[in-house]
Amino acid sequence: MKKTDLKALLDEMTMEEKILQLVQLPGATFEEDAAVTGLSDSQIPENVLRLAGSTLGIFGAEKVKKIQKAYVENHPHHIPLLFMLDVIHGHKTVMPCPLGLGATFDPEVARKGAEVQAKEASADGVHVTFSPMGDLVRDARWGRVVESTGEDKFLNGKMVAAMVKGYQGDDLTDTDHVASCVKHFAAYGGAEAGRDYNNVELSEHTLREQYLPAYKEGIDAGARLVMTSFNTLNGIPSSGNKWLMRYILRKEMGFDGVLISDWAAIAEMKNWGIAESLREAAKLAMEAGVDIDMCTESYYANLEDLINSGEIDKSLLDEAVMRVLELKNDLGLFEDPYRGASEEKAKKVTLTAENRAIARDAVRKSLVLLKNEREALPLKVKRIAFIGPYVDEKELRSSWAISCDSKTTVTIQEAATKFFEKTECKVKFAKGCEMLDNNTDLGFNTFTQENLEAENKKLMAKALEVADWADEVVLCLGEHFAQTGESTSKVNLTLSDAQRKLFHEVSKKSKKLVTLIICGRPLVLDEYIEKSDALMISFRPGTEGGNGIIDILSGEYSPSGKLPMSFPYSVGQEPIHYDRYITGRPKPAEGTSIFTTRYLDCPNEPRFCFGYGLTYSKFEISNVKLDKDILTDDAGITATVNVKNTGRVDATQVVQLYIRDMAGSRVRPIKELKGFERVEVKAGDSVDVSFKITEDMLRFFTIKNAFETEHGKFTAYIGFDSDTENGAEFSY
Ligand code: GLC
Repeated sequence: MKKTDLKALLDEMTMEEKILQLVQLPGATFEEDAAVTGLSDSQIPENVLRLAGSTLGIFGAEKVKKIQKAYVENHPHHIPLLFMLDVIHGHKTVMPCPLGLGATFDPEVARKGAEVQAKEASADGVHVTFSPMGDLVRDARWGRVVESTGEDKFLNGKMVAAMVKGYQGDDLTDTDHVASCVKHFAAYGGAEAGRDYNNVELSEHTLREQYLPAYKEGIDAGARLVMTSFNTLNGIPSSGNKWLMRYILRKEMGFDGVLISDWAAIAEMKNWGIAESLREAAKLAMEAGVDIDMCTESYYANLEDLINSGEIDKSLLDEAVMRVLELKNDLGLFEDPYRGASEEKAKKVTLTAENRAIARDAVRKSLVLLKNEREALPLKVKRIAFIGPYVDEKELRSSWAISCDSKTTVTIQEAATKFFEKTECKVKFAKGCEMLDNNTDLGFNTFTQENLEAENKKLMAKALEVADWADEVVLCLGEHFAQTGESTSKVNLTLSDAQRKLFHEVSKKSKKLVTLIICGRPLVLDEYIEKSDALMISFRPGTEGGNGIIDILSGEYSPSGKLPMSFPYSVGQEPIHYDRYITGRPKPAEGTSIFTTRYLDCPNEPRFCFGYGLTYSKFEISNVKLDKDILTDDAGITATVNVKNTGRVDATQVVQLYIRDMAGSRVRPIKELKGFERVEVKAGDSVDVSFKITEDMLRFFTIKNAFETEHGKFTAYIGFDSDTENGAEFSY
């Protein structure tokens, strides 16, 4: 429909019809079959059911088409319904969780994964996905770190932009794509004490330098929606934060798409004590420019009265409705309310060999090898025992893969059986223990198991027998998939007691021990590290988890993943991140350190730093060479290193560029990631890797409250993780 026609449509709509375009109903409202309009009878007023602008949580071509048909026929202007869904890292083919995508340091992996998700979801009738999350995360206690690509704004920005491109493609009328929604605006990951939905206290310069950039990258990539966050920012809930939404998001960032609240976030301003009534909450949200009220009555019960009383200008309503109509129009819904969704198409594009191959490649690149001694990996022995609750576990997804069927997941056991049957190697499997201890609270349900102790005793006996038989043991341990995600904050970054006990008993029996940890957040792993010859992290790997993991353990591929979040020695170090300040009393690397910034009982640094990960080979790196040591506005500096694979196997290394501003009008982080490149280097070969350093990379939010570069000295570091000291100085 032409823009002028949209304007004409808006002008024809009644106030009620306009307001209800801003209302999103939960999918359950539409689930049951019903008379009249194909909508279920419920306590939601009949006119809302008939005129709401969107719904979330429904998918399936036939179901969507049935509801849409009834809906469009019954709407006075035949305006189609928008169907939205959380397709976070997989619809049917589930990719590694976003934290795992961050570990790949490969935006192309994220883009291709998003493309697969969009194709599968769109065929199922989905128009909008509530993804990607752009939240910077530094606190592993917060369970939603699983949905972020990590602690670094630069890496997050590249990954978020890539996912937006993958979801949306170049033309939203292309029915292999869906509109994407960058969330949760803003700074949701900074929740105090790592507790979900909590207050966020941030200085403006930390907000602008660290927390906002990734959202901006997503918006610049063309994201059509943004979602408000549950948290307050310095005491103001995002959904009523006019400065954040009207000034930062719309004016500064230039976002002109649809702003949707998070689930009930408008109404929750009453709980926060910011609004005394839903009417007040609706007023704050409209003034902040929130276009869609997700799943509460705040808008439909109050906007008409607010406008008629003159407290809300009618123009705010019209601009919000126009943004919703434009989104529907750009999706081609007025021309085809079904957007080509069909069961037949869904069958053709879902869980295809190609989709699985993309997922499997993503798994391989997401695996992070933290230790590998005594040639434990790759597996080369004749008798291997796979032991642990993850050996034959299908739930390799995260709790935010809500539309997949986990029966389609390839388990480690299935993949290992298939791979090793082609070799002389014998494999045996044992569960070893249940994944959880009794009465573990998993948020929406609590895990209890009758006579768990007796059960674990039986499982342990079998496991020790198998461990005794084997030349090498692969322990497959981890968090339960429901222990990360929304409302899953924890103060202990550990595995269950049963798994810990299994680890210690099996380690006594193992001739050689590989520990694989499947998780959705950084964990405290000291005891596992010390007793394992090799340890590898798999961030919720998804549908092709078993295959990708065996591809790496078998040596078919060399691991290349890098940590997207610091792994601490202790939860007491949280929040912890590499781009920290040195302080006025830095703790010396050696020697005494009283009256310096330190803990009496723990190092300052993490156990494993951001950007760390081993390959199966060995790499050396030359000193950093700069083609000049003065950077000017119009002439950047080229920084080059030579990277040599000195090992015996071909491998991929992720070369990382960090820059430190040695002095600024505000204190500056000891390092900031400004570039990364994956390089495949054959055994014995070497390759030059160059990065272009330009003035814009040096900008920060100065004492003048502006993003600008200040003159002075800088150091460019290039290495294989954020601990690198391989640097060269330059000036600007
Ligand atoms: C949830 C989440 C958000 C999700 C939305 C819709 O509460 O915070 O990420 O997209 O509701 O399910």
